[in-house]
Amino acid sequence: MLHRLIAGSILLGSIGFFSLTANAQDKDTGDKKFGYVGAERCGMCHKTEKQGKQLSIWKESKHSQAYKTLQSEEADKIAKDKGFTSKAADTKECLACHVSGYDVDASLKGAKFKMEDGVQCETCHGPGSEYQKVMKNRDEAMAKGLVVHKDKEKFCTGCHNSKSPTFKGFDYDKYWAKISHMIPKDTK
Ligand code: HEC
Ligand code: HEC
Ligand code: HEC
Ligand code: HEC
Repeated sequence: MLHRLIAGSILLGSIGFFSLTANAQDKDTGDKKFGYVGAERCGMCHKTEKQGKQLSIWKESKHSQAYKTLQSEEADKIAKDKGFTSKAADTKECLACHVSGYDVDASLKGAKFKMEDGVQCETCHGPGSEYQKVMKNRDEAMAKGLVVHKDKEKFCTGCHNSKSPTFKGFDYDKYWAKISHMIPKDTK
């Protein structure tokens, strides 16, 4: 519970939650940084009806397409209008909200991790190389980098905000309904 509260309030301070989650990792583990394993790995255990089909819900959501979106002509035009000289998919100011891992050392990226998977499991739950081994123990998983969100709406608006060049507003209830992937209660 305490961890949940902390995770929530860290995001509240929102200087940009990317650097903040990174800080939270440093605090938990000293110098050691957790690595990214990729959505397919998470999906090995998170795909059944009983678990809540997180893998397929995510695959069918726009989050899984967020990198591909940057490869479009429309995206390049937006980047150009903003004054960037690189293509959108090569512009870190765009990648910041559209993918994970573009700015981390190659040694932290597992063989199956793909930046092309866009906004993926580990974008929202933290890099999983260590916690994926201890998921049945929630406290231990959180100590090893699992991020859960007490205030979901605050977390979403870390990206869904007016810094997005195409922002059209954010209706939390409606948007959460589109991506909700909770574990069905009767299996807990
Ligand atoms: C070896 C199987 C396995 C793998 C791999 C795995 N998980 Fe899990 N995960 C579980 C189990 C089991 C639970 C506990 C389910 C429960 O409480 O019913 C869980 C719980 C969770 C929860 C809920 C935590 C909470 O209590 O709020 C999240 C979030 C999660 N996993 C994300 C991930 C992500 C992201 C990855 C990939 C980096 C991943 N998992 C990889 C088995 C796995
Ligand atoms: C890391 C940044 C990031 C976070 C955090 C994030 N999103 Fe997104 N979201 C995006 C991006 C980028 C897109 C656009 C993807 C595309 O169209 O290629 C998107 C698109 C969506 C869409 C599709 C909207 C449409 O036009 O149909 C929904 C729904 C959504 N997000 C819900 C959420 C919710 C709910 C949360 C919080 C639990 C959340 N998102 C958190 C980056 C993020
Ligand atoms: C856009 C951000 C986002 C993405 C992408 C995302 N999640 Fe989540 N996930 C959340 C939020 C927010 C919650 C609800 C609060 C919490 O438990 O952290 C949640 C909840 C969960 C839960 C259920 C916790 C429970 O108590 O029932 C599991 C399991 C989970 N996610 C696993 C995954 C896996 C596996 C993937 C990739 C296939 C994934 N998530 C992708 C944001 C995301
Ligand atoms: C602050 C986070 C953020 C940044 C920075 C960001 N995006 Fe996005 N982007 C989003 C979100 C969230 C969406 C989903 C639609 C919305 O609500 O804005 C999105 C959607 C899009 C879409 C799809 C538009 C649509 O209507 O479906 C394109 C194209 C796009 N972004 C291009 C870019 C480009 C190019 C850059 C860099 C110049 C960029 N984005 C920077 C968060 C961001």
